[in-house]
Amino acid sequence: MKRIGVFTSGGDAPGMNACIRAVVRASCQREIEVYGIREGLQGMVENKIALLQTQDVANIIQRGGTILQSSRSKEFKTPTGREKSMQNLKTHGIEGLVCIGGDGSYAAMKVFNKEFSIPVIGCPGTIDNDIYGTDFTIGFDTAVNTVVEAVDKIRDTAESHNNVFFVEVMGRHSGAIALYSGISSGAESILLPEVTNDYDDLILKFKNKSKRKKRFSIVIVAEGDEEGNAIQIANKFKNSFPELSPKVTVLGHIQRGGAPSANDRILASRLGAAAVEALIDGKTNFALGVVDNNLTFTPLEKAINNKKEFNFDFYNLAEILSL
Ligand code: F6P
Repeated sequence: MKRIGVFTSGGDAPGMNACIRAVVRASCQREIEVYGIREGLQGMVENKIALLQTQDVANIIQRGGTILQSSRSKEFKTPTGREKSMQNLKTHGIEGLVCIGGDGSYAAMKVFNKEFSIPVIGCPGTIDNDIYGTDFTIGFDTAVNTVVEAVDKIRDTAESHNNVFFVEVMGRHSGAIALYSGISSGAESILLPEVTNDYDDLILKFKNKSKRKKRFSIVIVAEGDEEGNAIQIANKFKNSFPELSPKVTVLGHIQRGGAPSANDRILASRLGAAAVEALIDGKTNFALGVVDNNLTFTPLEKAINNKKEFNFDFYNLAEILSL
């Protein structure tokens, strides 16, 4: 293997730059050339490919976003788009790929590998922490810290006015950010897609006033909760408790930005360097991860087809501590 390509794909996540840096620096150590593919899979289709050298990744470990930029490409989903992409990779002599992204990007890579047999290694980059085969994904820790910082501020005003706050966090299909930020911000309730009776439980809690000595409440809502988003849920809640005036804060994309936490930088650095070694070793179609602090290799297909287990112990812990 003499030349590899690296790209970031799907929603950006803090720590993607640290991962790109690790891929480039580890490759340079092993005398492999690295090509950066800009704007994710769309950039592969459009031939936005250029050599990355060690100095190109200086001073990026602390930066959020991705210097390579990202996209959710429709064109890559077509056979013509993939054909063009392979042609572009061939023109640059690229023999293997490191894909930093989420499960959608992994699925695209599986098809690509099947059609053209190009070796692919995936590094899990998404704030959602919803990828099978790794305890954490790159960006998740930072996103949770961003939410906690925001909720700490909301808590001040909630307490001052005896308010109920519904705080919406990201996670269309995953309640991981809601769960971890809910525990670490001391939320009273957490509403997320993996638990179906959570809204009814919330209503019960508020009806059971004698047990509730609280004067204000923080409810964390994952955007993908089956009851709806935070605005819809707060409206429904208001119908049950007209005497309360719930407030809503939607944290939105601030969760995807900002300097990566130390944990995300370390995870990203480990995985980026390991991806290069994996390609050198002739491994292909693997999703990298860290489980119990050990590096793991999960076949891409398995990573795509399996759902990461939801941590019900954590959910129960949040319930116990919120009483
Ligand atoms: O996949 C990461 C994520 O941030 C999800 O949590 C969120 O639902 C989605 O991306 C939002 O994506 P977009 O910015 O494309 O609307």
